[in-house]
Amino acid sequence: MTAGNAEAASAASATLTVNGLSHWFIDPQSGSTVHALDDINLAIQPGEFITVVGPSGCGKTTLLKILAGFLKPLAGEARVHGSLITKPGRDRGVVFQELAILPWRTVRRNIGHGLEIQKVPKDVRAKKVAELTDLVGLRGFEDHYPHQLSGGMKQRVAVARTWASDPEIILMDEPFAAVDAMTRQTLQEELIRLTVETKKTVFFITHSVEEAVFLGDRVIALAARPGRVKASVQVPVPREGRTWETMTHDPSMAACVEEVLGLVRGEHEATLASESHANADAEQAQET
Ligand SMILES: Nc1ncnc2c1ncn2[C@@H]1O[C@H](COP(=O)(O)OP(=O)(O)O)[C@@H](O)[C@H]1O
Ligand SMILES: [Mg+2]
Repeated sequence: MTAGNAEAASAASATLTVNGLSHWFIDPQSGSTVHALDDINLAIQPGEFITVVGPSGCGKTTLLKILAGFLKPLAGEARVHGSLITKPGRDRGVVFQELAILPWRTVRRNIGHGLEIQKVPKDVRAKKVAELTDLVGLRGFEDHYPHQLSGGMKQRVAVARTWASDPEIILMDEPFAAVDAMTRQTLQEELIRLTVETKKTVFFITHSVEEAVFLGDRVIALAARPGRVKASVQVPVPREGRTWETMTHDPSMAACVEEVLGLVRGEHEATLASESHANADAEQAQET
């Protein structure tokens, strides 16, 4: 069965489906068309944790924005449980790399922000915020302001805030890219525990192949120019109980990292080659 057929066969039971989705932009400087995404097909199952890797500019963020309902695709469609995505919804929570926490609000009020907007009663909100503060390991810091927290702690606040309104689906765009390596490993292990416990369906973008394999049930490798699905790789070890300790000692995980690295490395070289062709074409055009 080809990757496309496998996606189609599993689409009926899926939480998120993407069918024949394409998107392009007009580059404001050159006026030329940038094909960000080309004929993307995906089916993401309930409770599945999908990680997406690919070279810079291959359309990862564009795809996430379409799933979030921030952007309408120019061709094809994305659906949640069969309903067309046309706008943001409570069923989908987004965590971006850029911190979306409010500097003038305490940890408690940042985590409870979404619930306040939804006019959730104060006592219900307080209970929920307390639970989440525990879940992300921030107990004792409820009254701190973001500037009093480390980078890792701020990112925990952002995660807890997204979890607070209990969306079924979590969309994450390189959320740990800006934290240091040690903290990142801790946050990754916490995210495994949190998503296993809360049974979320997750679409997680990263440019780190190790992170993609460590976190995912399945890794989608995207190819660039135009962005398309190159391969879908099943991670051989169940997510439950995964730690960096087990990850480093499991040869099947190392083999999986190698496999995905091979896919992405090929893509990186192809991107560089097409860039140098494009540059050569531009230079030639200038000369003539
Ligand atoms: N608003 C926009 N206007 C013009 N071009 C854009 C816009 N957003 C993204 N692009 C282009 O589309 C391509 C895919 O971008 P993006 O989805 O951000 O890639 P990634 O997240 O994989 O790095 C890139 O070439 C980028 O320059
Ligand atoms: Mg991006």
